Amino acid sequence: MIEFSPASVPTMYFIGVSTRQSSIMRVFPLWAEALGHAGTIIQGIDCPLHADPEDYCAIIRFIQSDPLSLGALITTHKIDLFNACEDLFDEIDPYALQLREVSGIYKSGDKLCACAKDPISSGLALQAFVPHNFWPTHGGEVLLLGAGGSSLAMSLYLTNQGHEMDIPRIITITNRSVGRLASAKAMLSNLNPNVEFRFVHCPTPADNDRLVNALPPYSLVVNATGLGKDAPGSPITDSAIFPINSLVWEINYRGDLLFRTQANAQAISRQLHVEDGWIYFIHGWTQVIGEVLHVPMSKETVLHLSKLAQA
Ligand SMILES: NC(=O)c1ccc[n+]([C@@H]2O[C@H](COP(=O)([O-])OP(=O)(O)OC[C@H]3O[C@@H](n4cnc5c(N)ncnc54)[C@H](OP(=O)(O)O)[C@@H]3O)[C@@H](O)[C@H]2O)c1
Repeated sequence: MIEFSPASVPTMYFIGVSTRQSSIMRVFPLWAEALGHAGTIIQGIDCPLHADPEDYCAIIRFIQSDPLSLGALITTHKIDLFNACEDLFDEIDPYALQLREVSGIYKSGDKLCACAKDPISSGLALQAFVPHNFWPTHGGEVLLLGAGGSSLAMSLYLTNQGHEMDIPRIITITNRSVGRLASAKAMLSNLNPNVEFRFVHCPTPADNDRLVNALPPYSLVVNATGLGKDAPGSPITDSAIFPINSLVWEINYRGDLLFRTQANAQAISRQLHVEDGWIYFIHGWTQVIGEVLHVPMSKETVLHLSKLAQA
């Protein structure tokens, strides 16, 4: 069981797997100062993948009861933490309820609130590299490797009815275990009648390879498994062949990022655009920090914070 000491200064937590190595540890003090919260600190809480539900509840109860603990950003554990702690939150935003995941926790008066910002932050990150009208112009498909919180959030963004016909015809989601696929299917199947969802159990990288190899040109392939950061390796083997003229997104920006290396090796021959998770990182953090510190995050503020982080 994890034990905590009360915070002695205003503190935001980062709940992840290997938080110490994240750039946010160096970036947060600069951002806090720029946002008028100098002295607010960030502290990592590392939990193993699929941690004990009681540990998730202990973290949430601690933040709830400790006056100087302001809130948290959650990565990797978004779904597991939501499932364990749903009843502990006083307010849950519509995306968190829809996706049954939580990426941010903050306090509003005496209420503890849970939010899911990934549909917004992954959407902003996708907008930065997926050209306007990419889908109706070229007819490619989307392959999301991993059926975790990030893939669910991206699916919501990619099928948004507000995008009219700028949506992919087919989104295929794979996962190593079957449980996550069943819940993803229940959640996503009826989002948009113009998008067909396929859910495929892929216990080995060779299974994922077969799906990558079968994609049409101008597709989007996303590594949302955490492999290459949370655990070594890649969800595909070196034998996978990316579809020509496609977009390949490794949603992490640190770690050995083997999947990105595999894509880069084919970038010229297959004419790929290979993107990492840096822009997603900026949007994910600024969205949650805005709620935790109660600061509006305008486009200009995000740009300023992004420049500070880059520097
Ligand atoms: N750049 C950023 O700012 C940013 C933002 C969000 C997330 N991320 C990163 O993105 C990663 C995913 O996040 P998440 O919250 O979606 O994590 P998550 O909920 O743990 O989901 C990962 C999913 O991938 C599946 N998986 C693992 N290996 C696989 C394989 N070989 N083939 C198919 N599926 C496989 C896992 O299946 P099992 O059920 O079998 O474990 C799990 O369902 C994490 O590393 C996170 O840190 C980065």
